[in-house]
Amino acid sequence: MKQLNEKGSVVVSVCMGKSCKKKEAKLILKETNKAFKNKCTLVKTDCQDFCDDAPVVLLGNSQYGKVKWNKMQKELEKLLNH
Ligand code: FES
Repeated sequence: MKQLNEKGSVVVSVCMGKSCKKKEAKLILKETNKAFKNKCTLVKTDCQDFCDDAPVVLLGNSQYGKVKWNKMQKELEKLLNH
């Protein structure tokens, strides 16, 4: 697991295992870093053992599978504005 920054209270852990990388994990990581750079703590993880649901992301304590960037963006905005 590699922490990329430590800017905010919400931790976003993006799986960068093989299956997730093949899906949209790189895009999710890039766009999250771009859009929420100073608002969340971004972490790259190894496989989270839910490869069938790739790409997998942990937002705070909640794990999401088959993540699409636009939906995740909305979820993250909700969490940050709480
Ligand atoms: S590669 Fe992401 S859950 Fe396995």
